[in-house]
Amino acid sequence: MSIIQPARGTHDYYGDKINLYNRIRSIISKIAKIYDFKEIQTPIFELSNLFKKPLGENSDVILKEMYTFEDKNETMLSLRPEFTTPIIRAAISNNLISNLPLKLFSFGPTFRRERPQKGRYRQFNQINFEIFGTHDPYSDVELINLADKFLKEIFSINKLIEQNITLEINSLGDIHTIQKYKENLTTYYEKYKFDLSEDSVKKIKLNPLRILDSKKEIDNKINLGAPKIKNFYSKESHQAFDKVQSYLNNENISYKINNNLVRGLDYYCHTVFEYKTSNLGTQDTLIGGGRYDGLIKNIGGPDVPGVGWAGGVERILLMLKNLKENKAIVELIILDDESKEYGTKILSSLRNKNVSTKYSYNKNIKKILKRASNENINFVIIVGENELNNKTFVLKDLKKEKQEIIKIAELDEIIKNERFKSEN
Ligand code: HAM
Repeated sequence: MSIIQPARGTHDYYGDKINLYNRIRSIISKIAKIYDFKEIQTPIFELSNLFKKPLGENSDVILKEMYTFEDKNETMLSLRPEFTTPIIRAAISNNLISNLPLKLFSFGPTFRRERPQKGRYRQFNQINFEIFGTHDPYSDVELINLADKFLKEIFSINKLIEQNITLEINSLGDIHTIQKYKENLTTYYEKYKFDLSEDSVKKIKLNPLRILDSKKEIDNKINLGAPKIKNFYSKESHQAFDKVQSYLNNENISYKINNNLVRGLDYYCHTVFEYKTSNLGTQDTLIGGGRYDGLIKNIGGPDVPGVGWAGGVERILLMLKNLKENKAIVELIILDDESKEYGTKILSSLRNKNVSTKYSYNKNIKKILKRASNENINFVIIVGENELNNKTFVLKDLKKEKQEIIKIAELDEIIKNERFKSEN
């Protein structure tokens, strides 16, 4: 492979894509504050053993997908395939867990060696929210509510509020429920081991839950007759799931119960949920999460519950791909060297007033105007000898195709106009 190609499943971010990425980042910081979450940044790699047990030694993420390497002192390290385990590790290492409930969020790259396709990459970015230390089903709904607000805000960027997004929820019940359910599923699928897809047959004993969300038609037919998890709930699991639903109803959040929703990682119990879209083909989950009550203890912390979700930034970007962002609001053209100092002062005044301003290092007006309107710039300011002598500037409104001569003393007043404010 040519060295000027990025490695398979990785991407460079520039132009509109990096603008949107940054926009998502800033919306996340804003919403995190509103919902009282604190940011945490963990290293990109961790000791490999951190991930082994928690993610499930039989789950795909551990079996096939981690980028694991041996360091010089023979320590095994892995690039993080997700945030939940590293955040728990960091909360324990730094003794943050003594003050509960603890609400943390992260944003950044994660790595999985999957077969790349649309919406599935080897380096991708996750947005991740976690709450440690409460069994209260309202915390599940608080997180869903946050996800809902985030998606609404993101998709209103390009006025696409209806993005064919559905929230699906399920409850896996408590540990005993899951255990009993898995045994029942294994017995059920054993009867079909000559009919199921090759992939699913491998999961009958190791991870039968994952057969339930197979994308293969043959498996789905067999899944129709599979035992249903709701018949295995304990009284407490039933009550917790009922509460989640009633809080969701109270918040007017629409959802669909999908009893076959099981999630890809092994640590879940009770509520699990996914926001899915019909716009992206098979990689259709934008956000996925749920409760993981034994995980913190499993990693070496106290026996406290946890709940959270992660969203895939690239999948969200794919849905926003047609958006053209405004770049600079104003472009400044200085026609000759004599007016340079006068012109660059105007440039600084605009930037000091936070007006996003581009400076044309060349003087070819025709070319500049053509490019500026392609770039969606609102205004061009032109200064030359006349303007220098009269202490004025030419203000060209590219959208309204109008131009006027303005006195320099009026600059501050002019830029109070809404159209001088950046949209992002
Ligand atoms: P996950 O379902 O493995 O959950 O990933 C969460 C989201 O990351 C997915 O819904 C998807 O949008 C995105 N994603 C996953 N793999 C890829 C990929 N190869 N390429 C692009 N995007 C991808 C978790 O990671 C859990 N830690 C979520 C969680 C947090 N549960 C509780 N707290």
